[in-house]
Amino acid sequence: MSTSRDGYLLSRNFNASSRLTAQHLLICRRTASLLDSRIAIGETGDPGRPLVIADIGCGNGIWTIELSQSSNCQVVGLDSSSELFPPDDIWPRNCTFDTFNVLAPVERKYIGVFDIINIRLLAGGLGRRDYDRVLANLKLMLREGGWLQWLDIAPPYILTYAREANQTLPVSIGCEMPRVVQSLGWLGHLPDLLKETGFTRVESSRTQPQGALLKHETSNVLLALSEIRDHLRHCPDRVGGFERAFDEVCNFVVEGGLVAVALCTTIAQKPRA
Ligand SMILES: C[S@@+](CC[C@H](N)C(=O)[O-])C[C@H]1O[C@@H](n2cnc3c(N)ncnc32)[C@H](O)[C@@H]1O
Repeated sequence: MSTSRDGYLLSRNFNASSRLTAQHLLICRRTASLLDSRIAIGETGDPGRPLVIADIGCGNGIWTIELSQSSNCQVVGLDSSSELFPPDDIWPRNCTFDTFNVLAPVERKYIGVFDIINIRLLAGGLGRRDYDRVLANLKLMLREGGWLQWLDIAPPYILTYAREANQTLPVSIGCEMPRVVQSLGWLGHLPDLLKETGFTRVESSRTQPQGALLKHETSNVLLALSEIRDHLRHCPDRVGGFERAFDEVCNFVVEGGLVAVALCTTIAQKPRA
């Protein structure tokens, strides 16, 4: 299946899964660890009890599995689609997967149970006005003192690296991204929105790609953008500008340019009562 029926902008086939795995490895080269070192893990939970961690919008579960294998935490991968989940007979013993829509009312079993919630690159699944539902749900799902870690695309969305002084930079993709991925409008204000929702200790930081891996970053960006372009071809009123912007990025790369996605990690704590 190359396009989704639920409005999700990317694909959920084996190509998309491989793209996510490559993207995971590239993100791991940008960030020192799977969990941000500013998250005060010692403060969450009770001594001796394994931490309970949710990975919302887990995709193929690559982060979920790697975290469970590097810790004794109980990790659950949650996604609105189970299409990319690994089969249950290969789940690590401390790792499970479940279907879950972050925009729907939270089931009782997930209320107040998580010490940490991880979200990575969920922007393409969220709409222009979804922030209050999402942030309220995240707060409801966390235990008091629990932490949220959210890594997602941030302005200018696509970083460009010209190889020649006179090379024309692809500029329209920076305007097209927030037009097409409508949640980017509010994700750009995520720290303020988290504070308004009652989260504390809110901090954000950018991650920079490694220079030596920029060719790999470029391939990964082009794959993601081409999936979005293919999805938008089914929405003729939305594809026009994006297709031209995508072609501009492709031409830039053909002429030797390199690109990478601009990423920002935000962490926040649910206060104790
Ligand atoms: C770009 S993938 C990211 C996968 C994973 N977080 C990673 O970084 O490898 C986004 C995932 O979010 C999921 N998703 C989209 N909308 C969602 C929703 N409303 N609730 C839960 N998951 C959603 C999609 O099905 C997809 O698997």
